[in-house]
Amino acid sequence: MSGLLTVEGGTPLQGEITVRGAKNFVSKAMVASLLGEEASELRNVPQIRDVEVVANLLGLHGVSVEHDPQAGVIALDPRNVEAAHVADIDAYAGSSRIPILFCGPLLHRLGEAFIPDLGGCRIGDRPIDYHLNILRQFGAVVDKRVQGIHISAPGGLRGTQIHLPYPSVGATEQTLLTAVRAQGLTELSNAAIEPEIMDLIAVLQKMGAIISVDTDRTIRIEGVDRLQGFRHTALADRIEAGSWASAALATRGDVFVKGATQPEMMTFLNTFRKVGGAFDVRADGIRFWHPGGELRSIVLETDVHPGFMTDWQQPLVVALTQATGLSIVHETVYENRFGFTDALRGMGATIQIYRECLGGLECRFDQRNFNHSAVISGPTPLRAADIEVPDLRGGFSHLIAALAAEGVSRVRGIDIINRGYENFMDKLEALGAKVSLAEAQGQVALV
Ligand code: EPZ
Repeated sequence: MSGLLTVEGGTPLQGEITVRGAKNFVSKAMVASLLGEEASELRNVPQIRDVEVVANLLGLHGVSVEHDPQAGVIALDPRNVEAAHVADIDAYAGSSRIPILFCGPLLHRLGEAFIPDLGGCRIGDRPIDYHLNILRQFGAVVDKRVQGIHISAPGGLRGTQIHLPYPSVGATEQTLLTAVRAQGLTELSNAAIEPEIMDLIAVLQKMGAIISVDTDRTIRIEGVDRLQGFRHTALADRIEAGSWASAALATRGDVFVKGATQPEMMTFLNTFRKVGGAFDVRADGIRFWHPGGELRSIVLETDVHPGFMTDWQQPLVVALTQATGLSIVHETVYENRFGFTDALRGMGATIQIYRECLGGLECRFDQRNFNHSAVISGPTPLRAADIEVPDLRGGFSHLIAALAAEGVSRVRGIDIINRGYENFMDKLEALGAKVSLAEAQGQVALV
């Protein structure tokens, strides 16, 4: 697919699209298959770049991967796991942060693991200190080398007590994927409890793991000697569903998101309603629409689950440019997730960014030099522009802005969007968007 998209905005999105399994669960479940002594099967798998990246990485480690993208089924057979070549891992992993989660399973299977420099969206520093400390606590030896980090476990991995400084999703997954086959009991306090993590726990339980979750964010894992394969259907992608919902609202449209589920989206739905959006939960999905009249400004803080997800923030901010009054958004998960608003300002939005915490939540970025609060004043009509996609969610948000704006926008670098949004071009067309792909030639002026 070309990296340049032409968008003729001003048409409300209308129609039906389907979301399949959550990107941020599917990739982890695929890694979990490494721990089994038999093949596993995952269903409801979306056809996105991150799935391809993990499939390739598993393939490099000797896992046989059979993917039927149409049916959304992926079969993973880890019986011949072997060490991969460093250069190959580097070449495949460049765009993803998933390799760090291979460590626990590979240490169990092979006694060593290697992690290249990690990629992922540039929305903050995104360090891996929690991950490395966790692995050390299990007894692993972490050796930083020129090409990346080599990790070994000469004495095997032993259960341990871990307290996370922050309920990190990845660090919680790291602990789970390492503890299930470590010797003895592991207790993880201040864990993340996102629905995608609960679904990963469900997968591990199917494999034979013993894991309990307390109401106070403590997870206890009793290590077992062997794990079997699993068959599992992935939970729906609530980030993608929320993104299409925000697109419906910003374009004054009406979109039925087939496959979206209510329990994982409760916090989003509350906020959507407060802004003035309408929704209807049905057996097979959720319909989101702009009911006419004015949208209302809100005060919003992103947080770990069950709070408002940081990944919903960027698409919703575009809709907030169309709400009457001053909206305040305090981003408490990532220190640098408002870069995408530069382009929105260039399109006519009135958004000011602040270093201060504009909200009541205790935030790690208080009194530090991070632009992590935004004040959005609306409604402001959006004008078409030439835009460069900065990251996955920011990029989709730019698309929404271009769809809501009057005139023809050119959005460059849309390939990034394929990392997390399945067939988004087909979906846009199904919703009546006037979009066309062009070869990305010449320089596009950036706003
Ligand atoms: C996951 O990233 C998701 N990615 C992100 O989705 C999501 O935004 C994030 O969780 C929060 O929900 C995947 O699942 C592949 P974290 P992860 O560890 O696990 C800090 C998307 O658009 N931290 O919960 O990397 C970190 O800097 C993406 O789909 C450390 O300081 O997120 C951040 O401020 C982007 N040290 C905070 O914790 C560490 O070692 C939360 O990050 C690890 C994290």
